[in-house]
Amino acid sequence: MVLVTTQQELLSQLIPRQKNQKIGFVPTMGALHAGHLSLVSRAISENQKVVVSIFVNPTQFDNKEDLKKYPKTLEADINILSTISKDLVIFAPSVKDMYTKTVATKSYQFNGLDKVMEGAFRDDHFNGVGTIVEALLNLVQPDRAYFGEKDFQQLQIIKKMVELHKIPVEIIGCPIVRESSGLAMSSRNERLSKLVRKEASFIYKILEQAKVKFGTNSAKYVKDWVTAQFQTNAYLKLEYFEIADVRTLKSIDKKIKNKKYRAFIAVYADGIRLIDNIALN
Ligand code: PAF
Repeated sequence: MVLVTTQQELLSQLIPRQKNQKIGFVPTMGALHAGHLSLVSRAISENQKVVVSIFVNPTQFDNKEDLKKYPKTLEADINILSTISKDLVIFAPSVKDMYTKTVATKSYQFNGLDKVMEGAFRDDHFNGVGTIVEALLNLVQPDRAYFGEKDFQQLQIIKKMVELHKIPVEIIGCPIVRESSGLAMSSRNERLSKLVRKEASFIYKILEQAKVKFGTNSAKYVKDWVTAQFQTNAYLKLEYFEIADVRTLKSIDKKIKNKKYRAFIAVYADGIRLIDNIALN
């Protein structure tokens, strides 16, 4: 296990690049859980060298309070990573090192993928994600980079950015890992009270039922049904529920044969914002 904290040190681990050596990359913001470990394990199984970055990226937080409260647990993260491999390169730079002059966000064209759902509720969020992911991909120059489907919109946007900017990397989406209650794993879950964490399993239960209902009902029917379910829940406040085409992320009214759809949800629990999604067909 090698821990490096500057871009310079990271490059000294990666250059010279060995012939035929594939590099896998898992970008994270730390506070690692089993969801992250599934990405790292997949990267280990498919590449000869694996880099994991741990960096709480300030430019993707529209809410300064959320940034301040984001858990920073580097020591625990290193320990948890060492349980799956002793051979990783961990890159944990400072904000100053990553954003050399000022903390600035680039502006991207993501063909509208960034304007809906998370993008509609979190100002400039995806420009911040694009800025850091592009910088990290240019630095690490991996063959493959791994992202969780829990942030499905982020995954689609990163695929689009890589395509538009011709970045030579394969972007691999990995399935959502869930707690035994069904709640999607997230670093934010740690901030929920025991009671609300239990109640939050309602989100996935509703998504599963929405999937069944979508088989025989219209998107509008399912949306109204989900909205009504949350009105009866005292612990969870629904921010949005959308049924969208997986390719365009545009919300739909009517189903079209052979198109793939997914349901997306954002909910406030104890003032903490949780997101989840499910494939519908
Ligand atoms: O998904 C995340 O943890 C972050 O958005 C990412 C991709 C590491 C960029 O900061």
